[in-house]
Amino acid sequence: MVESQCPSTVSCADILAFAVRDSTTLASKKILYQVAAGRRDGRISLENEVTINLPSQYFNATQLISNFESKNLTAEDLVILTGAHSIGVAHCESFINRLYNFSAASGTDPTLDPVYAAILKRKCPSNTTNSSSTVVALDSLTPKILDNMFYVGLMKNLGLLSSDQALLTEEFVRIMVEMNANSENPDLVKLW
Ligand SMILES: *[C@@H]1O[C@H](CO)[C@@H](O)[C@H](O)[C@H]1NC(C)=O
Ligand SMILES: *[C@@H]1O[C@H](CO)[C@@H](O)[C@H](O)[C@H]1NC(C)=O
Ligand SMILES: *[C@@H]1O[C@H](CO)[C@@H](O)[C@H](O)[C@H]1NC(C)=O
Ligand SMILES: *[C@@H]1O[C@H](CO)[C@@H](O)[C@H](O)[C@H]1NC(C)=O
Ligand SMILES: *[C@@H]1O[C@H](CO)[C@@H](O)[C@H](O)[C@H]1NC(C)=O
Repeated sequence: MVESQCPSTVSCADILAFAVRDSTTLASKKILYQVAAGRRDGRISLENEVTINLPSQYFNATQLISNFESKNLTAEDLVILTGAHSIGVAHCESFINRLYNFSAASGTDPTLDPVYAAILKRKCPSNTTNSSSTVVALDSLTPKILDNMFYVGLMKNLGLLSSDQALLTEEFVRIMVEMNANSENPDLVKLW
């Protein structure tokens, strides 16, 4: 439709970036920012490039930092971009390994808050199959608001994915999580 109105001018990549901007404003009720147009669409799209490039939910801090470094992104970028988990959900299969038979020493991942782990076990029983459609919010404190409560949750051992909770295991990364957890929400963040 956009293409018929405005041929060879507006790219799908631009539409995606605008949709992200508008969703960010709607989900935060605070954050407004401008994005420049002019992205070019790629001509090739390969499904297998997703899994080989995106960090796994099982990565530890070392692996996360080197995955970001390979894209010329810093550990600070890692902390900020992981904040996207302030909204969104994950399927049971992405974290069920933390709930049952986690290690020889402990059935449940000891870096999970015990009350939270009990809630997760009710949502995802041990016989949950990988095709189960059950999903759990990545930020259990304010699941539908884009804010800093995701970082507050990490400080309380409420990280759903082990790759999120792993941000606390590297001292200089943990300090950045803490700073975000403690930063007061400005009434209106205008980046322009
Ligand atoms: C992360 O995992 C890699 C690969 O298994 C390992 O070499 C490294 O020591 C681990 N780092 C931490 C902080 O556990
Ligand atoms: C990272 O930066 C180096 C040096 O500027 C560059 O050669 C390389 O292509 C960049 N890698 C990515 C993934 O952008
Ligand atoms: C737990 O893990 C151990 C060692 O990997 C395995 O032998 C055992 O069968 C597992 N138990 C369950 C209930 O999955
Ligand atoms: C899992 O086990 C519970 C209790 O034993 C049972 O009610 C439920 O139907 C089982 N679910 C699946 C997917 O097998
Ligand atoms: C379920 O998914 C997990 C994580 O993706 C994987 O490790 C496991 O092998 C899968 N199990 C089955 C039965 O497909």
